[in-house]
Formats: sequence, structure tokens, C-alpha cells
Amino acid sequence: MSETAWTAVDRYIGEALGLGDAVLDEAARASEAAGLPSIAVSPAQGMLLNILARSVAAERILEIGTLGGYSTIWLARALPAGGRVLTLELDPRHADVAEANFERAGLADRIEVMRGAALDSLAELVAENAGPFDLSFIDADKANIPGYFEAALTLSRPGSLIVVDNVIREGAVIDATSNDPNVRGVRRLNEILGSEKRVSATTIQTVGVKGYDGFTIAIVNG
Ligand code: SAH
Ligand code: DHB
Ligand code: MG
Repeated sequence: MSETAWTAVDRYIGEALGLGDAVLDEAARASEAAGLPSIAVSPAQGMLLNILARSVAAERILEIGTLGGYSTIWLARALPAGGRVLTLELDPRHADVAEANFERAGLADRIEVMRGAALDSLAELVAENAGPFDLSFIDADKANIPGYFEAALTLSRPGSLIVVDNVIREGAVIDATSNDPNVRGVRRLNEILGSEKRVSATTIQTVGVKGYDGFTIAIVNG
């Protein structure tokens, strides 16, 4: 099995299950037209985020790494009336594209983009006691995953979910000698998870249109 097959199967799953729609397609198209990298979650992964958010009846969602807001739209659609997503983005071009996508999606009233380096934004949110968030999705630069996880945990409550994207990195995660800051970031997360009593966590490897990677899903213990 190869990446070609994984991509074909992802397309089949998307079509068979009817994942995505014109609004999501338009957000992806506008992001690509603006020159953003094609690294958003897939439709199947977007629906996983949506299902996880609904499973915990999330009313307040934190996202770290907006890009064009494709994953944000999947998350925002899980919200009940009055619910909100706060999404953190460093690149002002990405934030601009995302905000236009949220307007077109009719979701601008329930999504706020917080601009700047996410570690700074998170420090502000912690200082303001802005939590708790019911679900956090960590999907920005991978070197800072440990800091993002610690902040997300501080901004959580018992029962909150913390989801981390891109934690397998084509298997490079098992290389203890790696100098790749992305791999080191994920490995440090796993060290934290190995001893952190406040969460129960697992990591699921994935293949698909995004290649060979995976998600970590953690729940904050009561
Ligand atoms: N969640 C998006 C994809 C995010 S891609 C989706 O699935 O649709 C990663 C994003 O993180 C990029 O837009 C990048 O600009 C942003 N990013 C990178 N470093 C960051 C930082 N230090 N603070 C905040 N955002 C950052
Ligand atoms: C990259 C980032 C992501 O969040 C992702 O899901 C895939 C790739 C990247 O920076 O290359
Ligand atoms: Mg990602």
C-alpha cells in the first residue's frame, strides 16, 4: 500500500460518507488561491474533530494554528448556539484568509482569530483565566507542541479533550537521536504524557491523503 492508494481511499471515504460540502470546498479553494500551503486536515479528519467536539458537547473550543480556517469550520459546526471557537494564528496573511472564509461560511459570529505567536497568546489567556476550554486542537508549529500542551492543559477542566495533530511524522517520532525540532517537540510531548497524571492519552497512527502521520487524543482526568 502506498500514498497513492491511501489518497484514493480517502477520496472514496469522503464521497461514500458525504464528508464536506460546498462551503468547506470553497474555504479550501480560497486558501489555495491565496497561496497557503495544502496542509489543512482532510475531510475525514475534519469530521473526526467535529465528532470529538460533539461527543464532549463542547461549547468553548481552542485551536492553535488556524491556516485558512478549514479545521476551524469543522470545529465551529459542532458548537451549540452560543458556542465559540478561539483560534490562534501567527501569520497575518493566514488570519486574513481564515476570517474571509469564516464570513463566507456564515460562522464569523462564533469564531475569533487571535493573532500573534501562540505561546504569547496562550500566556495571555492563562493570565486572564480565559479557560476552561472543552476541547483544544493543537496544530501549529511542532517544536512548540510541549508548550502548547501545557497551556492547553492549564486552560482545561476535567473531561476536556486535547487533540494534537502530526505526532507520527512518517515514523520519525521513534528516532531518539533526531535533531529535527518537529520530532523533538513530539517526543517531548510523549515524555510529558508518560508521566502526566492529570490526563489519559493515546496516539493513533493514520494514513491517507496527508500521508503517514497521526493524532494524539488526551482527556483531562476528573
Ligand atoms: N489547523 C489548520 C492547519 C494549521 S497549519 C487546518 O487543519 O485547517 C499550521 C498553522 O500554524 C499555520 O497557519 C502557521 O502559520 C501557524 N503557526 C506556525 N507557527 C505558529 C506560532 N508560533 N503561533 C501561531 N501560529 C503558528
Ligand atoms: C505540516 C503541518 C501540519 O499541521 C500538517 O498537518 C501537515 C504538514 C507542515 O508544516 O508541513
Ligand atoms: Mg496538522
